[in-house]
Amino acid sequence: MTGKPRVWISRPTFPDIVARLEPFFEVTAEPEEIALSSRELAARLAGCEAAIVGLKERIGAAEIAGASRLRIIANLAVGYDNLDLPALTAAGIVASNTADVLNESVADYTWALLLGAARRMGAAERWLRAGQWRATEFRGWLGMDTRGRTLGILGMGRIGQAIARRAVGFGMQVIYHNRSRLPEAVERECAARYVDKPVLLRESDFLVLAVPLTAQSRHAIGAAELAQMKPSAVLVNIARGGVVDDAALAAALAGGRLAAAALDVFEGEPKVHPALLALDNVILSPHIASATWDTRRAMTAMAVDNVLALFGHGPHAGHPPSLLNPQVLAARPAP
Ligand code: DGY
Repeated sequence: MTGKPRVWISRPTFPDIVARLEPFFEVTAEPEEIALSSRELAARLAGCEAAIVGLKERIGAAEIAGASRLRIIANLAVGYDNLDLPALTAAGIVASNTADVLNESVADYTWALLLGAARRMGAAERWLRAGQWRATEFRGWLGMDTRGRTLGILGMGRIGQAIARRAVGFGMQVIYHNRSRLPEAVERECAARYVDKPVLLRESDFLVLAVPLTAQSRHAIGAAELAQMKPSAVLVNIARGGVVDDAALAAALAGGRLAAAALDVFEGEPKVHPALLALDNVILSPHIASATWDTRRAMTAMAVDNVLALFGHGPHAGHPPSLLNPQVLAARPAP
């Protein structure tokens, strides 16, 4: 026991970045990606002043019940549906995320998925690897162009806006729906037009989902919404599993009521609905939209900065850069 406060990190990250904590904290990092039970998580949290966790750690009242020393949970993600924010706030525990540092990588990957689905890249590659390429067919593997088509975006936060800005280069019109309409200057910068949800569903040739998962957005795209979309449309989900009803989506794709989909996130991931696995007109990817070297390092640095700052160290001393419940700090000053 060194007498320093303890930080627990739930997964392997980047040792050179985490080393910035070492002058001030006793740092323990899990050496492997393991799935912890609620009880194991509670035991880890009970032994530390700060925790850096990822999406697979689901933390609520039960997990923090014995964590009387815990002051901050720094989430290694922008989304925080894995955290019960009201429970953390009630317990006086600060929560932080990694807002903004991943916007551009996620937007790039969204376009990779969109284009991959439009041009049938996954199925074509599987076909080639299976040794089925006998001759180059003039009418083989025909896909869909983006030029002149309409890109719809559900959820126009910073990631949605980064996706929209790229659409200019592809010659697309952009429409969006959001809880609240964006200021005119932002709409102009993104060349995006606000529409209501039925119009978004009806008019989009490509529909990208970029909303956080909340009670309101759960199954925002289900059978009823899919039925309103063009049968020629492509759906891209980089938001969260649960925003789409995966069973309904698989049925629409299998029944020709939607042309294609590309999914980076799934209900109940890492499990994937078996009906989706059986389809050729969907690209499936293991929740990696933010997974670039630069971005995952930046996310780690932001989580580290959030912890350092809460304890009065580092470049943001006293002001964690990405707080989710600032009211906790107002009620209980930083240590
Ligand atoms: C996030 O940050 O919320 C991503 O989904 C995880 O990479």
